Amino acid sequence: MKRRDRASDIGPVPAARIETAAESFLPMTRPSIDEETIAGVAEVLRSGWITSGPQLQAFEARLSEYVGGRPVRAFNSGTCTMEIALRIAGIGPGDEVVTTPLSWVATSNVILAVGARPIFVDIDPVTRNIDLDRIEPAITPATRALLPVDLAGLPVDRDRLHQIARRHGLRVIEDAAQALGSTWRGRRIGSFGDFVSFSFHPAKNLTTIEGGCLVLNDAREAGLAERYRLQGVVRTGFDGMEVEIAGGKFNLTDVAARVGLGQLERLAGFNARRRELASAYFRAFEDRGARELGLALPVADFAGTNWHMFQVVLPEERLRVPRAEVMRLLHDAGIGTGVHYPAIHLFALYRRLGWRPGDFPQAEYVGRNILTLPLFPAMRDADVPRVAEALVGILRAHLR
Ligand SMILES: Cc1ncc(COP(=O)(O)O)c(C=O)c1O
Repeated sequence: MKRRDRASDIGPVPAARIETAAESFLPMTRPSIDEETIAGVAEVLRSGWITSGPQLQAFEARLSEYVGGRPVRAFNSGTCTMEIALRIAGIGPGDEVVTTPLSWVATSNVILAVGARPIFVDIDPVTRNIDLDRIEPAITPATRALLPVDLAGLPVDRDRLHQIARRHGLRVIEDAAQALGSTWRGRRIGSFGDFVSFSFHPAKNLTTIEGGCLVLNDAREAGLAERYRLQGVVRTGFDGMEVEIAGGKFNLTDVAARVGLGQLERLAGFNARRRELASAYFRAFEDRGARELGLALPVADFAGTNWHMFQVVLPEERLRVPRAEVMRLLHDAGIGTGVHYPAIHLFALYRRLGWRPGDFPQAEYVGRNILTLPLFPAMRDADVPRVAEALVGILRAHLR
């Protein structure tokens, strides 16, 4: 029988199925798609209109309400959202964009995609987000934008971020791919600022299977986003069509939008459950003396974080085995884990562009040792101590 350990593996287990050891495997994440959403998708499929249409419009309207009425356009990924934001901002060859080396590689690939140069600055090892103190020394006359990431949903300090941007006349593209439902000083991420990009990948707090959305500033930018989304086409009347910019094919289907509508209804509940589980992780690790073993826990931010992930950093100096071995041992104990992320500048592509080991020591250390533990709304309370017990047991067995 197949292991239910993939993010895309959804749906209820038939009652008659007998649970085997493999069936009890705890994945790192798993989306929660309810029956009403599945029925809604079936309706869309039967409706005769399955690509971008009324469901997309409804989804965008709901997303816009969610971020306090700002214009929102949805796309088929949280990668193209950022590329389109960069294009709308007019960023291209010769321009520099300041970003973090500790993210999904999409964050900096989009900078390369528009012909600009990423300028990495190291992270704060506590928040694991870009170190705001290091941004200003990295700004040059070619700098055009800041592209920070809210890793695991923990928000970057928006007051300081936007102050720096204003001081230097820079655009901001917030890579809030992981931060839907997070807040900064009580304000929802996306409800203020400049461009804000979210992802709806299956691992995210809200999924459309694949997808994303971009929060924009005004109707002009929203119109441009629509053109970049679909071949640059502007339709006027029944047979009028014009194309002035080379857009792409980044539209979200109505099937995906219907999934998103069902998810958005439940987002507050999902995030509340994630918070509960995260809080249980802190108790479980503290009860077992994990900090004394050198395990670094995330920032315990229960006001602002949407707890997209619960990530620990292994104590490299004290561990006799590499992270991969810890992951293998956890896997053998029926627990799925992940790595989010290796430092971007050490990938072959980026080394070819000139970056070297040692350039960003904090990001490199965290990139080598960070480990994402299971956290998703359908997880059971008992799963948390089971994970903590297994990880602490592995640490105790392999510490110097
Ligand atoms: C931090 C970050 N940035 C960008 C992306 C890109 O989003 P997508 O996979 O929807 O293109 C993701 C999601 O995978 C992400 O986690």
